[in-house]
Formats: sequence, structure tokens, C-alpha cells
Amino acid sequence: MRIIQIDDVPLGSPLGQALYNERGDVLAQTGVKLDESLLSAIKARGYTAVFVEDKQSAGIEVVDPLSFATRSKATKATRNTMVIGERVTQVLGPDLASTAATLPRSAEVHRTISQGVPADAIQESVREIVDEMLDAPTQLGLNSIKGQDSFAFAHAVEVASVAVRLGREVGLKPPDLRRLGRGALLHDVGQAFTGDTTDGKTGTPTPADIEQVKRHTRLGYDFLQNVPDFEPLANHVAYQHHEWHGGGGYPRGLKGTDWGDLNRNVSGEIMLIAQVTAIADVYDALCSDRPFRARLPRELAMSLMRRMAGAQLNGDLLQVFMHIVPVYPTGYPVRIVGGALDRWQGVVAKLGSPDINRPVVRVFQKPDGGEVEPFEVDLAKDSTARLMTAPPKRARVGAS
Ligand SMILES: [Fe+2]
Ligand SMILES: [Fe+2]
Repeated sequence: MRIIQIDDVPLGSPLGQALYNERGDVLAQTGVKLDESLLSAIKARGYTAVFVEDKQSAGIEVVDPLSFATRSKATKATRNTMVIGERVTQVLGPDLASTAATLPRSAEVHRTISQGVPADAIQESVREIVDEMLDAPTQLGLNSIKGQDSFAFAHAVEVASVAVRLGREVGLKPPDLRRLGRGALLHDVGQAFTGDTTDGKTGTPTPADIEQVKRHTRLGYDFLQNVPDFEPLANHVAYQHHEWHGGGGYPRGLKGTDWGDLNRNVSGEIMLIAQVTAIADVYDALCSDRPFRARLPRELAMSLMRRMAGAQLNGDLLQVFMHIVPVYPTGYPVRIVGGALDRWQGVVAKLGSPDINRPVVRVFQKPDGGEVEPFEVDLAKDSTARLMTAPPKRARVGAS
């Protein structure tokens, strides 16, 4: 299996990983053959790439650490929670909903949230995510591919699973992982009130857009506080996930990360579970397509994150993160730079060991674009070569 740009998919290839529509329902199931009409439906939902099974990638296994059932249920439960947020905006009216910094307290708001949010489905999904991430391989595979229409909840599920995986690596126990997972799954629920800066728009968000979206942290926290079954400590993840380790984040400008007792929320500091969520959030955002920019090449995303160490993100947590998340995951398109195979292209076939970033690459394309019978090279054995993200095919055709 490998990732391929939608425009480059050979017709008839089986889809490697299920895709979702704007309601959180399955749009295309794993294994379905991609024909022209399905590909255009997928493209219309804002997907730019998909996983496919094809002859070049035969035998390359991309393991989704979440089962299909868990991913589907969590996607749906998150979507149904965000729908309740939208219902609350109707209760408030457009003027209040678009300006309020905190969620007004009223019996109707409380009733809408406490009766509408599917708290059981959320908590069940979180338990499943935690159980499956406890069994997941040490190294994490890919962030899932997302369409713009379903971005909000696909992002939520992804952030929850990455956060729980990182939480496991720093030694959190299942009850704390569930608290982390629930906080992470609903970290952006406040966007039901604010949008995510880019609602239906393209182009770079303006300063006014950014001020508008900043309200989603406090509004999300207030929203969650209306759900009787939701623990306040986990609700603080929504409140704190845009705080910066070095200070300078929002909404309160907290500073430092509290590594101490997970059962407390020290005033002025960021909770560990909120910092863990922040790392998963930044990672998934940089590696996903957004209306105002394409997903970044992974080497760029990872080097940007490294540069955030100490200022935006906690450096110790980030170091652990970099040990479990490879720059180039299995199935990812790469170009070799340097060495005997300079400018040849292929996909990552297997993560490197002990260095996850020196993988085995399945090579099948020459520098001139011509295809060859696939063969594999082990970068662990060739220190003269490094990798970069393979440029999309169309760019190559245009350039030659
Ligand atoms: Fe956010
Ligand atoms: Fe987010």
C-alpha cells in the first residue's frame, strides 16, 4: 500500500484506507476499486491523496493502529458532539455566537448540551482508542488522509490517537490516558462556535480571522463543562491546547508544563495532558491539507516542530515524540538524494531499525520519470543518501 495523489491514481486500484464524508459516514470503504466517478466524488470532498494498493507497493503494509470500527465510531461521536455545538449557536443567536468570549449560562444552553452530547459514545470511543493504542506498534504510522469536508472530526480522532500514543510513551497509565484521550478528542469542540479560520474560505487567514478563532479554546471548555459526565480536568485540554510551553500562547498565556501530579491543574502552568495534545495537534495540522495550504512535506513539518521546542512545545515531550514518529512513514512517497541512486523515487517500505529515519525504500522510478521493476534499498546501509518528499508527478511532468 502507498499514498498517491488523487490525480495519479491508476484507475481500478483498490483503496487502501477508508474515507469519510461530511457526516462522518464512510464515503469509500477499504478495498473498493477506484473508478473515475468514485475518484471525482472523493476529490469533491476535498481529498487530494489516498492510500492505494498497486503493483509498485505490493506487500508494503501500512498498519492503521486504530481499527476501522473504532475510527468510525469515534469519528461519528465527535461529529455528533460538534453538531450540538452548532445547535447551541442557534440558541444563542448569530450576534452573540459570533462575539461571545465565554459561553453564556442559561437553562436552555445547559439543557441543549447536557441532553444532546453523546457522552457515553464519546467515552466508549475513548476507551477503545486507548485500548488499541496500548497494543499499537512502538512506532506510529501515518496521520490519516483527510478531506476538507470531514476535517474537523477526522482531525479530532487523529489527535486523540497520537496524543494517547505519546502519553503511553511517557508512562501515563490507562486512567490518565483516558483523560488525555477524551480531552484530545474534543480539544477543538469550540470551533462549532468560531469555525476554524478558514470556513469555506481560501487564502491566508487575516488577523481578524485569527482573533475570531482564538475564542474556540474557552468556548470549548465552557461547552464541555455543561456535560455532567465529563471530568473538568479533561475539559481543560480544550482550554489549554493553544498555550505555549515558553509562554505567549492563548487564551491565558500560561507558562511551563506541569510534570507533577496529573490530578491537579496548577494555576499558571499548562497541564501535561494539554501539552501532549498540543504536540499531536500541531503534528496533525502541519501534515494535513487545509483550504489555505497543502499539507507540508514531512521533512519540513518535522523540522518546524523541532524549532518549536522550548518556545511553543515542551522540548522533552517533543523528543519522545520524534522517537516514535518517523519523518517518513511506511507507504510515503520519497525521493533519494545523494549516493548511487540520486533522484530515484519510490516509497518507504519499512521503517529503519534502530534509526527509524533510515528506512528501507522500495524504488521504482528513475530520475527521468521512467518506471523500473521495483527493488529495495536499505538506507541504514548507505550513509551517503538521504530522503526528501517525492514531488507530485504532475510537477515533474511540467518541469521536464
Ligand atoms: Fe484548537
Ligand atoms: Fe486542533
